[in-house]
Amino acid sequence: MSKLAKIPPGVGPRYPQVLTLVGATGDLAQRKLWPGLYHLVTAGFIPAIRIVGVSLDPMDVEAFRALVKSALDKFSPRKACDEAWAHFASLLDYVPLDAGAGALHEAVRAAEAALGPETRRLHYLSVPPKAALPAVKTLAEARLIERSRVVMEKPFGTDLRSARELNARLHEVFAEDQIFRIDHFLGKEPAQNILAFRFANGLFEPIWNRNFINHVQIDVPETLGLDKRASFYEQTGAYRDMVVTHLFQILGFMAMEPPTALEPSPISEEKNKVFRSMKPIDPRDVVRGQYVGYRQQEGVDPESDTETLIALKCEIDNWRWAGVPFFLRTGKRMAEGQRIISIAFREPPKSMFPANSGVGAQGPDHLTFDLADATKVSLSFYGKRPGPGMRLDKQSLQFSMNDTGLAGEVLEAYERLILDAMRGDRTLFTTADGIERLWEVSEPLLDAPPPVRLYEPGSWGPKSIHQLIAPNAWRLPFERAWRDPNPTGS
Ligand code: BG6
Repeated sequence: MSKLAKIPPGVGPRYPQVLTLVGATGDLAQRKLWPGLYHLVTAGFIPAIRIVGVSLDPMDVEAFRALVKSALDKFSPRKACDEAWAHFASLLDYVPLDAGAGALHEAVRAAEAALGPETRRLHYLSVPPKAALPAVKTLAEARLIERSRVVMEKPFGTDLRSARELNARLHEVFAEDQIFRIDHFLGKEPAQNILAFRFANGLFEPIWNRNFINHVQIDVPETLGLDKRASFYEQTGAYRDMVVTHLFQILGFMAMEPPTALEPSPISEEKNKVFRSMKPIDPRDVVRGQYVGYRQQEGVDPESDTETLIALKCEIDNWRWAGVPFFLRTGKRMAEGQRIISIAFREPPKSMFPANSGVGAQGPDHLTFDLADATKVSLSFYGKRPGPGMRLDKQSLQFSMNDTGLAGEVLEAYERLILDAMRGDRTLFTTADGIERLWEVSEPLLDAPPPVRLYEPGSWGPKSIHQLIAPNAWRLPFERAWRDPNPTGS
């Protein structure tokens, strides 16, 4: 608790919190939410809290605490010391779903009694889309709507019709200002850094448009496979899991006009304008891939048509971006884990350099953002190779957060967003309108998806990903590695 003094005022929630975590034993909870909550609580960001775990698994509170402990041991980057763990464990309670709404009500009331009358409720629904409404119904039956906010996990619906239905049904229970639709990519430090980079500098915004930019890539390959998540993923696929959520939200930050203020409505308004200008996704501009071996995984149809990789072209038909293609790609079991946005600038209109000088030989100038927690930015350009004659090489200016000594201050995306939801700050949450529009532009693809093409695990996807982007090329794999003189940030 010694870190308490370091937490600036206003960062934590104003009122004590009871967090009801539905899906408390699931994959997301184990990998991200428990490690995040543990850090927020033990570092003093949330001074007064009780957490009630809820899931389908029948178990008592001791078994539940043991499960949380093993999740921390496995997934938390910080080691849980005995004293801090004992404190955290004492804040946890557990209610299996089949114990019913009455038992949930009692558990939350008991937690509130320990925290006082000012206590607020945060319900976090870490459940797949089809379980979201039943969970909301249970919360309503347990009479836990008052003084509450609800965090909804993505994907929010599975198409336009279901997203509209979900919004309508949610509004029967919660007011819009109680609903926080989470997209954890927006909570990533580098995503917010896109806003800083664009709007805190006079240098880049003037060239941030179709006159100077040739195309944009948002590329998020993952090495990880699906394993225990396969049965969830089989219903979801890469498009719904990653593109209509994370990648489009990042695209929104990358492409939006300057908001009138750094506040929730102006930011959502500008992001939603980008989504409104997006052209419907043409299935001919989409490559769907599936890694060899996916169909043999437990919970997967042996003839599954679910894509584990997707690459597509989309366009934003407005004054800033008309004619500039945005290429998006993401997939599982790929050659490397990376999260980049890469902006390719137009080449000079005329070159006086001799053809064999190397001008243009290594592609256009690029501005590249690495969306890893410890962000990196690189600007590449042609420069003269030392020595006689005029030979040109690709050179770069690079920034790495690890060099600042501040990388340790980064809050993991879920940590930041949980804190924001407790404080009622919706700047980094998505809106019903925005999400519905994204499902709307997705309709042609969802109605007539192209066939899946197989790719080898450990590769960059099926061959057709290259035709999609031609005459350009995917930035990844990088020809030259990032320079990172201090990779651990120590
Ligand atoms: C999740 C997806 O939302 O994001 C996963 O469901 C994906 O399939 C994950 O692996 C990637 O997030 P991160 O923060 O690890 O890049």
